[in-house]
Amino acid sequence: MSASRPYILVLYYSRSGATRTMAEQMVAGVESIAGIDARLRTVPPVSTTCEAVDPEIPAEGAVYATLDDLRHCAGLALGSPTRFGNMAAPLKHYLDGTSELWINGALIDKPATAFTSTASLHGGQEATLLTMLVPLLHLGMVYAGVPYSESGLTETTSGGTPYGTSHLAGTASDRSVDDIERTLARAQGKRLARLALALHALREEK
Ligand SMILES: Cc1cc2nc3c(=O)[nH]c(=O)nc-3n(C[C@H](O)[C@H](O)[C@H](O)COP(=O)(O)O)c2cc1C
Repeated sequence: MSASRPYILVLYYSRSGATRTMAEQMVAGVESIAGIDARLRTVPPVSTTCEAVDPEIPAEGAVYATLDDLRHCAGLALGSPTRFGNMAAPLKHYLDGTSELWINGALIDKPATAFTSTASLHGGQEATLLTMLVPLLHLGMVYAGVPYSESGLTETTSGGTPYGTSHLAGTASDRSVDDIERTLARAQGKRLARLALALHALREEK
């Protein structure tokens, strides 16, 4: 990956792996577009104590995102498991550390999207996605969901919403990402990559 090539930051948090699988589909969608890369990153869990207890490099999965990963991205795909209809605290904690990017307008006119995973079908997929987009709008990003030209949106009996892709993991977190959820996640990543290239070109014209 060259330093000058635009990239989509696929930033997720996942405890039992479902959102991580969705993130990997997002990466596949982004990487199906020429001229742009995907950078997969995660965030560490947060603790109620102030002592840092986790290693700096996670034992498995993506490495932790830095502020520069977000600062220099051409677009952002943000993935979180549902926590009572909201994003998980570790991701919110990361976003709460981005005031400098907000003050400097570093993310203005960059496209963003969100994806989630829930235990139950009506357990807050849409609510989570809608609440995840709020801070992204404050940061000046251009939100892109999933358009109804994706037939999976009308065919699904599990995850998939126009606000972003979702996954139904089941109460035991043992339900795999199904074909429709996978197709929607890839389409979402692909769309984000195309929009990122177009908006990148627009920003370069300034
Ligand atoms: C504190 C907490 C709150 C949760 N809230 C919800 C919820 O409101 N609705 C739901 O369907 N699942 C809820 N879940 C379940 C997770 O969102 C779900 O298992 C998800 O698929 C986990 O994703 P992961 O495998 O990426 O960690 C909650 C889990 C925890 C630990």
